[in-house]
Amino acid sequence: MSTSVYIETHGCQMNVADTERATDRLRAAGYELLDTHLGADVVLFNTCSIREKAAQKVLTRIGEVRHEPGGAGQLIGVLGCVAQLEGAAIFDQSATVGLVAGTRATDRLPELIEQARAGAQALDLGERGELDDWNVSSTVRHSKHVAFVPIIEGCNKFCSYCIVPYSRGRERSRPAEEILREVRRLLCEGYTEVHLIGQNVNSYRPRSTKGLEDFPGATPFSRLLRALAATGMPRIKFTTSFPRDFHEDIVKALEEHENLCNWVHLPVQSGSDRILRLMRRGHTAENYLERVRTIKGSPRRIALTSDIIVGFPGETDADFEATMRLVEACQYDGLYIFKYSERPGTPSAAMADDVPKELKTERFLALERLQRRMQETVYASYVGREVYVLAEGESARNCTDLTGHSTCHKVVNFRGDKGLVGNILKVRITEAKTNSLYGVMV
Ligand code: SAH
Ligand code: SF4
Ligand code: F3S
Repeated sequence: MSTSVYIETHGCQMNVADTERATDRLRAAGYELLDTHLGADVVLFNTCSIREKAAQKVLTRIGEVRHEPGGAGQLIGVLGCVAQLEGAAIFDQSATVGLVAGTRATDRLPELIEQARAGAQALDLGERGELDDWNVSSTVRHSKHVAFVPIIEGCNKFCSYCIVPYSRGRERSRPAEEILREVRRLLCEGYTEVHLIGQNVNSYRPRSTKGLEDFPGATPFSRLLRALAATGMPRIKFTTSFPRDFHEDIVKALEEHENLCNWVHLPVQSGSDRILRLMRRGHTAENYLERVRTIKGSPRRIALTSDIIVGFPGETDADFEATMRLVEACQYDGLYIFKYSERPGTPSAAMADDVPKELKTERFLALERLQRRMQETVYASYVGREVYVLAEGESARNCTDLTGHSTCHKVVNFRGDKGLVGNILKVRITEAKTNSLYGVMV
């Protein structure tokens, strides 16, 4: 009988993609993949370390799984960012863990599991292998309609608060030819949308630009966008963009090609130049606003979303005020707000985490209130307009409604039969809710 494996995924889209890849490799090696930890021989946790809470979650989950019926006999493994950062220390923290595999060990999981099942502690914090590739078969993807396509992994930016450069290693861009091949294949398999993913997609810089010869562009990323647009994939989204590397040619490419979706996620983190400097972001508030003007100045209406950290070490009321003003100026379509969380080993961990918890919460709530108010206006402006929505499934609230995302990446619900799932539909917006739109098919 084949060994059964369950992978529980936490963290960002890169972890989702890594889990798909691990699933693919394990299936090919003869393992049976389950969609529950109950009854699995092996339970793997693909972990995230971006904030303290996320990093702690894995130990709690291991405890929970352990105490369920049959849990005591299972092989437990830790993958992903926590694994990469903590390494062998995880074996000491949790005696029940038998396997620790870092962020670049995905393709070696079959052998690692074998090793651990034979009774040895399996540890792999190594780099990707020479012959590793990102290709995964469609049967293991998280959705039948939307596919994540990693184009770059790792990060060279070393923002002072961030653990990612340590957990994911240096930036490595995937060969353009391989990406193009994958997107063409996804098209044949019936996918209607791809998300190009990477910690910083617009830092894309492959060793060879083979495959991009016929496509102009100011940067390899905008050339890749144009090449992908030419494949005819109906919808192409990309995230995350890094402000310093955001070239205006990206906006031009979006203007030229309808299938490059009108949404940019461009995290700013703070509106205070002093804090941005301490964060080592490599841009000022004004540099950022220039990019925003380019995006908003486009004849195509491009949705803009962002991330903010409140309570960075030394953040004063004036610094926070500057963030509020910037958020007001940007009129974001969406905003993710995070309270600063000290990550051991990062440069900012050497600074005193001196903004009191209560003040972090206060700033978080004030920013949330402001964004809600701004978003109300943005969302209300969609009422009466028509958007294209990829129907992704039935709405959780109402069985007669379908739910999906617009090209500008808003959640749109509308009346429709589930037979329409997988199609791109034109929807006229009739109502704006806090974080979604409601409409009717036209
Ligand atoms: N590469 C992307 C984002 C990566 S992490 C970028 O540079 O924009 C996603 C978000 O988590 C970040 O944008 C940031 O807002 C948040 N984040 C990262 N480290 C954090 C920390 N130590 N504390 C709180 N939030 C953090
Ligand atoms: Fe972290 Fe900065 Fe890299 Fe984003 S760009 S992953 S915030 S170090
Ligand atoms: Fe988390 Fe690692 Fe992604 S820290 S956000 S899973 S890169």
